Amino acid sequence: MDLSTPLPLRLHRGAPTPLAVQLAGQVRDLVASGALTTGSRLPSSRALATDLGVARAVVEQAYDQLRAEGWLTSRRGSGTYVAALGRAPAHRIPARHASAPPATAAAGGRRRIVLDTGTPWQDPRLRAGWRRAWRDVAAAPLPSGYPDPAGLRELRAEIAAYVARTRGVLCRPEEVMVTAGTTHAVGLVLAALGSGSLAVEDPGYRAAVATARQSGWRVLDVPVDRDGLDVTHLAAAADDVRAVYVTPAHQHPLGVTLSAGRRVALLAEARRRGALVLEDDYDSEFRYDVAPVPALTALDRDQSVYLGTASKLLHPALRIGWLVAPAHLVAELARLRAERHDHAPWPVQRALLTLLGEGHLDKSVRAARRVYAERGALVEDRLARFGSLARPVAGMYATLLLPGPVADAVVAEGAAAGVDVPALADYSRSSGRTGLVVGFGGVSDEELDTALDVLAAALRRAT
Ligand SMILES: Cc1ncc(COP(=O)(O)O)c(C=O)c1O
Repeated sequence: MDLSTPLPLRLHRGAPTPLAVQLAGQVRDLVASGALTTGSRLPSSRALATDLGVARAVVEQAYDQLRAEGWLTSRRGSGTYVAALGRAPAHRIPARHASAPPATAAAGGRRRIVLDTGTPWQDPRLRAGWRRAWRDVAAAPLPSGYPDPAGLRELRAEIAAYVARTRGVLCRPEEVMVTAGTTHAVGLVLAALGSGSLAVEDPGYRAAVATARQSGWRVLDVPVDRDGLDVTHLAAAADDVRAVYVTPAHQHPLGVTLSAGRRVALLAEARRRGALVLEDDYDSEFRYDVAPVPALTALDRDQSVYLGTASKLLHPALRIGWLVAPAHLVAELARLRAERHDHAPWPVQRALLTLLGEGHLDKSVRAARRVYAERGALVEDRLARFGSLARPVAGMYATLLLPGPVADAVVAEGAAAGVDVPALADYSRSSGRTGLVVGFGGVSDEELDTALDVLAAALRRAT
């Protein structure tokens, strides 16, 4: 953190305490209270003196004092920093899978364990790939203007190769568009289609529902059973369904796979209605019992749009993903995006190009698959006995079906013990399905153990 911005400091000229002593006292308080953290860079003495309207010597004297006391440290030629104070590190280092960053948020001084379904495990070995990727970004010349809204040509070619290799979706680079993730892609397609109803699995992905509603679309709730989205319900609906959002490989959040019969029926129903199937393939790489099931889009490239994301493979903060659609639709989406200067950030596209092109992503996916398989088995082992666990456990969460009051009690007890677990009811619209959706990606092994202890104890009491 670089603190070149003004600090919350106020000096009183008329006070009996010398200005340098006042300043040293206030900076000391900021460090001691944790408002300034280890490694934070302080403003230069010249800049701070200007901000405070005092002589530079006042700031130098205060900094000298705090350096002598050990609060601050200097690096030759690079400035003044908050020193390491020898306090306990903010994050415990997990024993296994050592560098997975804990998905925790500080609250009232106690760390919470957040079992969300959206945060992936971070592969420590990917750091070298990241360094390489950012070096490549730094070395590449900037584009001459706004980049192509469809994405960098080389990246689209890499993505085409990736989805062909991993998901059986054979496509040309001009059928690929780089997006800012799945949700963005859903919004783009809906904008291109105009208006109507989007059919969405129920329970289903909340961000897809929110995107549709915020785009002025109606949402048709389609129930899900053990074969996935119930196509007969869709076929019977009177709504003007112009698109169907579906998670065939790993229904979110019930976990089931869309069966072969349902895939064929869904595509037939989409053709009958002239609707597009939006296949959200968010975490299909992570299947542990069998090889990943091929993408639905591979069955009918004209009727479907394939949506991929780096949010699960790398990190959601990157805001990058891709879609595969017929070339005419990609061209239309690019035209609409160009109108509002909408394109995926160029540095992130360049970085992804390196990670994909040099095989870093593939290696990381293999490592993550091992971690998730182990964690999924652990969750199954510890929680399956308390309810009906959605199988197969895949991806980075496991869904435990439970009566509503039991789920509510466990969510409340978990929250009180510092463990946040999503309720399945929050993903349900008309379906009324209840239970827990236990994410296991973004926590350390140690945190997962602790969280499972808390949940198992709560479940024992509630069931
Ligand atoms: C079902 C589903 N699809 C897609 C995503 C990723 O969306 P985005 O690419 O917009 O981050 C998530 C993330 O949690 C998800 O749960």
